[in-house]
Amino acid sequence: MSSLSAQEYPVQSSPAALRALIESRRAVRRFTDEPVPDAVIRDCLEMAVLAPSSCNLQPWSFQVIRDAQLRARLHPVCLGQQAARAPLLILVLARPDTWREACAGILEHWPEAHIPEPVRRFYSGVAQFQYNQGPFGLLGLFKRQLVRLLGLRKALMRRPNSLAEMRVWAVKSTALAAQNLMLAFQSHGYATCPLEGFDEVRLRKLLDIPRRAIPVMILAVGRRGERGVYNPRLRFPLEQHVQWL
Ligand SMILES: Cc1cc2nc3c(=O)[nH]c(=O)nc-3n(C[C@H](O)[C@H](O)[C@H](O)COP(=O)(O)O)c2cc1C
Repeated sequence: MSSLSAQEYPVQSSPAALRALIESRRAVRRFTDEPVPDAVIRDCLEMAVLAPSSCNLQPWSFQVIRDAQLRARLHPVCLGQQAARAPLLILVLARPDTWREACAGILEHWPEAHIPEPVRRFYSGVAQFQYNQGPFGLLGLFKRQLVRLLGLRKALMRRPNSLAEMRVWAVKSTALAAQNLMLAFQSHGYATCPLEGFDEVRLRKLLDIPRRAIPVMILAVGRRGERGVYNPRLRFPLEQHVQWL
């Protein structure tokens, strides 16, 4: 008998259905005024955070901006882009600064009565060293030298070992959550446009963004408006990007 629980059995997924969803998503820049219901937003956020993340530390956070006045003030911050007139904006933040509480959170909320020893050891020990870069990143500097030496003898994780690498680390996982979020809205019949065209200094003045959080993108969300897609789809041939080894 298999030891898999019902939840762990592979879902009967259809590649055709997934392809259809992925293909139907376009960057939409014009939306109708129809608001996005909170229940839909919540459902999509739940799907967003099902994205994989490095060591399951979930280094992301989201600001759901529904308030009309606030959105109006964000429009010039988004360089006056038409897409930023969407009825819903979601600021997607990467959080290189939350790993410590995430480690504690994993041990606190472990979904079984007994936390396996390797899990406890990792989050209370290894991770504390791996992600801690010390004040001004000085510990990271030391770790880089240590890893260079130890790495002569065996294969090692060499990153993240600086504050800059922590930012890359957090952005990787957050981008996956952002893509989940877009596809989730698409599955509910709402269009999206990811925006990185914004003035970060003004954004930080307008919204309460933790100092070390990184605004990865602002997601414009709403029902697709007329002539909402500006350009035909263009992708380079696979051969240009793929090496088969
Ligand atoms: C990280 C990121 C930032 C983007 N920023 C903007 C933006 O500021 N304004 C905009 O109109 N589109 C933006 N886009 C959308 C891209 O232009 C769009 O995805 C691309 O042209 C491909 O079109 P498609 O998504 O419809 O296939 C962004 C996309 C990504 C992934």
